[in-house]
Amino acid sequence: MIKIKAINKLVENSNIILLIDTKTFKKSEYLSKEQTDAVKEAIKIDKKQLFFNTGFQHIFALFSSTPFNWETCEKLRKAGAKICDIINVNSKENVTIIAQDNKAALAVAEGLALANYQFLKYKTDKKKKINSLTEINILSDKISKKDIEHLNIAVNATYIARTLVNEPFSYLNAVQLSEEFKKIGKEAGFTVEVWNEAKIEAQKMGGILAVNKGSKIPPTFNIMTYKPKNAINKKPYVLVGKGVVYDTGGLSLKPTPMSMDYMKCDMAGSAVVAGTLYAAAKAELPLYIVGLVPATDNWIGEDSYAPGDVITMYNGTTVEVLNTDAEGRLVLADALHYAKKLDPELVCDFATLTGAAVRAIGPYASATLGTASDEVKQDIFDSSYAVFERLVEFPLWEEYADELKSEVADMTNLGKGEGGQISAAKFLQHFTNYPWMHFDIAGPAFNHAVDAYKPKGGTGVGVRLMFDFLSKKATK
Ligand code: BES
Ligand code: ZN
Ligand code: ZN
Repeated sequence: MIKIKAINKLVENSNIILLIDTKTFKKSEYLSKEQTDAVKEAIKIDKKQLFFNTGFQHIFALFSSTPFNWETCEKLRKAGAKICDIINVNSKENVTIIAQDNKAALAVAEGLALANYQFLKYKTDKKKKINSLTEINILSDKISKKDIEHLNIAVNATYIARTLVNEPFSYLNAVQLSEEFKKIGKEAGFTVEVWNEAKIEAQKMGGILAVNKGSKIPPTFNIMTYKPKNAINKKPYVLVGKGVVYDTGGLSLKPTPMSMDYMKCDMAGSAVVAGTLYAAAKAELPLYIVGLVPATDNWIGEDSYAPGDVITMYNGTTVEVLNTDAEGRLVLADALHYAKKLDPELVCDFATLTGAAVRAIGPYASATLGTASDEVKQDIFDSSYAVFERLVEFPLWEEYADELKSEVADMTNLGKGEGGQISAAKFLQHFTNYPWMHFDIAGPAFNHAVDAYKPKGGTGVGVRLMFDFLSKKATK
């Protein structure tokens, strides 16, 4: 695991990343005369970075100009990711960031650390492949301990979420997912209650049971609770995550290429929940937080639920299933109904819910809809910029609920194709009666190619967003 720490003295010949303010640069104690001239030349021609290899040490000069806002911080994260590659190619173990501004230093460290993630579990030659970088130092005696600690936690929590997403269904079925939650809870300090199939049946969670019908593996319903004694909120923040450990589409079968072939990612919402609870507990946030994850695969079997079936949900609503591939909303609806019991302050759900969200905005942002107050929405958007996990809000118009009207049951699970991310959210809204935000992460949860500090595969999107949002709630 990578470790970020503050140091107040530079070890000779360390590899350094020097953040240079292009507006004010004259010289630096870390650069020779020739290097200083090269830097001045580079600034003239508007270069963004320079790399010196002295044989003993690597010096990366990064050029930027103040102020450090969300846009420049993102550039620094990306620059950190680039440097991460060079460091590992050169088998270096550590690097020290030197910057005037702590916020800027933290952004470079974040990009470096997030880019250093690897998923090597199934590689037989993992020893050869493992990254050399293990230590990121920030040279500063003014940087806050809490900022460093929160950054380490956010990085680890993101790693945890990515690994959960990257684990294939051959390992990570619903039962195993619950085991992973227990391990994470034990390490971080939150409890995990797992309902088995018998309990889910006894509770009549009809959405989860219908999706699970074609499977040989039982479903689970997971309740993760973090309730420290010093919690400042009586009503919990509730996080709900789609835990479809594999989505074949069911009888409404998906095609394989660029569709079913990566549907191990369909539990990415549940990874956000577990990752955020890990972070909150590790940071000892004085907040009462509950995570809910309905988990199952969406398989094909003798007993699979079929298009045209009518099922009865946990809250008693009857649903005509017109497409078995719209399974996420069925399992989430039961969890959202359960959340009412908790009298929540706010419920945020995360789900790889619709291809429509991906078609609307691609992999660059999550589609967001919700009934929370404007103030809460503003806080969420502020966090979204702070961590650069972009959100696009869509409207919860009634017309989209009309699309879900059924001839035979209370509603169907299938809207019209257009704006499908909205009709899916309207379906979910039916099962809520509290301030609620929905995050359709189908686009950004899983990368098909490396994108700066976000690797191919699970990205962990949602974790840094929620951790930032909750951390700010904890200090309000
Ligand atoms: N898991 C998929 C959505 C998805 C798409 C996730 C792309 C990640 C990347 C979801 O269960 C699904 O299949 N949704 C259907 C719903 C439709 C039948 C109404 C879809 O979006 O096509
Ligand atoms: Zn599906
Ligand atoms: Zn799905």
